[in-house]
Amino acid sequence: MRETIIAPSLLAADFSKLGEELQMVEQSPAPWIHLDIMDGNFVPNISYGIPVLESLKDQTNLFFDVHLMIENPDRYISAFRNAGADMYTVHYEACTHLHRTIQSIKQTGMKAGVALNPHTPVHLLDDILPELDLVLIMSVNPGFGGQTFIPNALNKIKTLRQTIDQNNLNCLIEIDGGVGLSNATDIKQAGCDVLVAGSSVFGAANPQQAITDLYRV
Ligand code: DX5
Ligand code: ZN
Repeated sequence: MRETIIAPSLLAADFSKLGEELQMVEQSPAPWIHLDIMDGNFVPNISYGIPVLESLKDQTNLFFDVHLMIENPDRYISAFRNAGADMYTVHYEACTHLHRTIQSIKQTGMKAGVALNPHTPVHLLDDILPELDLVLIMSVNPGFGGQTFIPNALNKIKTLRQTIDQNNLNCLIEIDGGVGLSNATDIKQAGCDVLVAGSSVFGAANPQQAITDLYRV
C-alpha cells in the first residue's frame, strides 16, 4: 500500500495545554499537525486563529497543515504565511476565483490545497488539479470534530486517485472527518495520502499509540 501521513487535528486537543499536546505530536511518528481555522460564517463554529499558530510555530518543527473554513480566505494568505503555515487549504465553496487564489498562495512559498464539502463532486477540480499540492476531501460536514464518517468519501478518493495517476500529477489526497482505526484501512486502500485524525487521537487513552496504530493498519 502507498505511504500515508497521519495529521493529528489540534481541534480535539486540550486547549488549556496546547504546548504539551503539540510536544506529544512532535514525539510521535506524525510529521504534520492539522490546524482548523473556523470563522463562524462559512461554518457555524469559531475555533482559533493567527496568534495561536504564531506561538505554536516557535515550539515545533511539525508541518503546519492549515485548513481554512472561512469566507474570503484570500484576505489572510500572507498573515497565515507569516504565522508559520506550510500548507494553506481553502474551500472550493468559499472561492469565486479559485485559480487566482491558488496562484496567490503559491507566490508566498506555501503549498496550496483545496477542500471539498461532502456534496461537492471531485470532477469540479479537473481543470485546476495540475496547480494543486493537495485536495482535502471532507468526510463530515465541516465545523465540528467528533462526527461520523460519510462513506461516500471513499468513492471520491478512488475517483480522484484515478485522475491524479492517469495524468501523472503531483497532488496529495487528504481525508478529514471521522477518521479512526475502524476505517483507516479502507481509506488507505482507496488511495489516500494524508489522514487527518482529531478525536481518535486526542480522545485516546494513549494518543501516541493511537497515531502509531493508524500508521500500522
Ligand atoms: C472538521 C475539521 C476536522 C476535525 C476532525 O470540520 O475540519 O479537521 O478536527 O475531527 P475528527 O477527527 O474528530 O472528526
Ligand atoms: Zn480540518
